[in-house]
Amino acid sequence: MIGKDLDIAKSLLENGEVVAIPTETVYGLAANALNPIGVSKIFKVKNRPSFDPLIIHCADAAAVERYVRQVPPKAARLLDAFAPGALTLLLEKDDRIPEIVTAGLPKVAVRIPNHPLTLELLHRLDFPLAAPSANPFGYISPTSAQHVSDQLGDKIPYILDGGPCSVGVESTIIGFEQEQVVLYRKGGLALEKIEALIGPVQVKAHSTSNPKAPGMLHSHYAPRIPLVLGKLTELLNVHADKRIGLISFSERFAQVPSEYQVVLSETGNMEEAARNLFAGMRRLDAADLDLIVAELIPEQGLGRAINDRLRRAAATPE
Ligand code: TXA
Ligand code: MG
Repeated sequence: MIGKDLDIAKSLLENGEVVAIPTETVYGLAANALNPIGVSKIFKVKNRPSFDPLIIHCADAAAVERYVRQVPPKAARLLDAFAPGALTLLLEKDDRIPEIVTAGLPKVAVRIPNHPLTLELLHRLDFPLAAPSANPFGYISPTSAQHVSDQLGDKIPYILDGGPCSVGVESTIIGFEQEQVVLYRKGGLALEKIEALIGPVQVKAHSTSNPKAPGMLHSHYAPRIPLVLGKLTELLNVHADKRIGLISFSERFAQVPSEYQVVLSETGNMEEAARNLFAGMRRLDAADLDLIVAELIPEQGLGRAINDRLRRAAATPE
């Protein structure tokens, strides 16, 4: 069922059930992070391997402090500046966080989502919510309640509808290795903004088997239909005999019917492009096409996260 009723969501979560929740980045599939049985249902519904840890979602910085051993000074400054927001921090976990949440790792991923409905829900609950993106493992993350319903609707009791996601790509994941700040996933908070606040960040988000973010397998976010990246005019020529879907940054192409074209932002706006990316990929993936062609966009701001998702979608499963 899809609805906006916080009481229903709250009572299901208190009873150890899973509920899909809106966030500003993507929809999450949530359960009581302190209840291992509830959390195990997330893995089952998503068909997610148990070695892939979950992010916990907290109402505010005080709640974050309750579930981690300590908040290093740079983490505190990031929380001050960017929470609630599209920022996830990897911090030493408190013993109350069950092993199933972190897949046995000593650190827990924590974030404060910037969505009014979910913040209200978190304030009303006396536990944090463990929540991965609300998609079957390996598929494109959902950015609307309908996306969640399309794939998981018959497997979960409730989808809390908070409208379309305002950011549209998953959170940026930041951790600390000794004194070094490390970025493990490019996301909805731009690297430039983080570096402007706390100085240089080491980017480790490119590896195909990054042990710090085991879920970042190269083929993540993959659509069903093959997706190739390159120069669009050339790709359209090479694949002229195929039924083609197209994802461009801002340009339209007369050769492709408009229903098979996703223009991420006509004005070349990165935020708008990020908002449109996953819905566009889903729309083309549902069409009767042989191939999706796409182009990378400038590697700056949210362009980094958009390009990362496009590259993962283009990678063949390992
Ligand atoms: O925007 C987001 O972050 C969304 C919304 C729902 O909050 N959530 C999300 O969760 O994208 P998920 O599970 O799809 O991606 C979380 C990533 C995974 O790649 C996971 O491996 C990594 O974070 N991760 C979680 N806990 C970790 C930990 N303790 N150590 C290392 N990586 C961790
Ligand atoms: Mg995910």
